[in-house]
Amino acid sequence: MNALAHCYNIADLREAARRRLPKGVFEFVDRGTEDEVALRNNRAAFERIKLRPRSLVDVSRRSMQTTLFGKPVGMPLAIAPTGAAGLCWYHGELELAKAAAAAKVPFTLATGAMTSMEEIAKEAGGRLWMQLYLWNERRYSYELIKRAENAGFEALILTVDTVVSPNREYNPRNGFNLPFHPNVRAISDMLAHPRWLAGVLTRYLTTTGMPRYENLPEQFRRKITADPSQKEITRQDTMDWEDVKRLRDLWPRILMVKGIMQPDEAVRAVEYGADAVIVSNHGGRNFDSAMASIDALPDIVEAVGDRATVILDSGIRRGSDIAKALALGAKAVLVGRATLYGTAVAGQAGALAALNLLGGELDKTMAYTACNTIDEIGPDLLYLPRDRNRMGLPETALA
Ligand SMILES: Cc1cc2nc3c(=O)[nH]c(=O)nc-3n(C[C@H](O)[C@H](O)[C@H](O)COP(=O)(O)O)c2cc1C
Repeated sequence: MNALAHCYNIADLREAARRRLPKGVFEFVDRGTEDEVALRNNRAAFERIKLRPRSLVDVSRRSMQTTLFGKPVGMPLAIAPTGAAGLCWYHGELELAKAAAAAKVPFTLATGAMTSMEEIAKEAGGRLWMQLYLWNERRYSYELIKRAENAGFEALILTVDTVVSPNREYNPRNGFNLPFHPNVRAISDMLAHPRWLAGVLTRYLTTTGMPRYENLPEQFRRKITADPSQKEITRQDTMDWEDVKRLRDLWPRILMVKGIMQPDEAVRAVEYGADAVIVSNHGGRNFDSAMASIDALPDIVEAVGDRATVILDSGIRRGSDIAKALALGAKAVLVGRATLYGTAVAGQAGALAALNLLGGELDKTMAYTACNTIDEIGPDLLYLPRDRNRMGLPETALA
């Protein structure tokens, strides 16, 4: 049976992914950190925000097409960097990148991906962004930047919200930490998911071998089962603003800083030459006390003004969430898990299904709020109750 046949929304894709993936892989993708407060709150924050429907406007020619950094996109969305697509599906990053190209949205390759940036650039087509973790031994990161430039990547995204490794307690409990040293629990978990075992792991082992971190410097390009031999490419707790300056000098194309939640930091990033800030709490995966990024967005939009592009991620599961982010001032959103679930269910077709579901829902939201174009999605769509506290939005969102 077609695995996508009964997937009518992202929650259905998540459920199908849960059935297909070993528990260790699924939880690595799906869960948050510590008590998962931030993860739940990302959704709660979106659900708190209400839109005011509008009618009696001809919306029959509405379109989700817009521009991002001056170039057309099929909808105001890009694929977030996630280091796990290659575990969800055989060469999952390439599948995801091809789906993005088909939907005319940019794809971001993570530093920790299992497909090399050169292969993505050669095979995927479409607009490609590269995510960077800045290692304590900077020269290795600079090598990676040079490779991304040579491979033709359009943008570099510096992630700044992962200075230490988060407490994802379920990973060791599942026997699924990286480096991956399968224990009895992990092995029986994999054996209990024969479709994944045959279609993903065995396929790797019988073709290209155990997946490796293909974007690491050659001497560190280890298998996911190998221990990191060098601390200089695992730690990143020395990063500071001088690094943003330095990256601006090194990288000639679009530069974004991802993981910003403070308005003054957003302004500083722009002053140091960033073309965009990505307001994000890493999908609730890193710091469990972090506020929802959608709650941080209005103050950042106000502080940045029209000096740079503001993008939002963390918690997008419905097309209406995209409209809410745009109404609060974001130019676009990134999606992480939504398309990973799709990739886990059916590779490229599954990732594309996720994008089409989100797009279809955004289209309906536009119809219900009488927006013919993406630019018409503005703050006037937000429902502002007289009792402002009921909505729980920051004051600036209500101004
Ligand atoms: C499995 C997984 C791996 C991720 N890996 C990275 C990464 O390597 N670099 C990064 O900047 N963000 C990473 N992220 C965070 C995403 O880029 C994004 O911020 C987050 O997924 C957005 O939230 P959402 O999943 O609710 O859409 C990862 C997220 C997931 C789910």
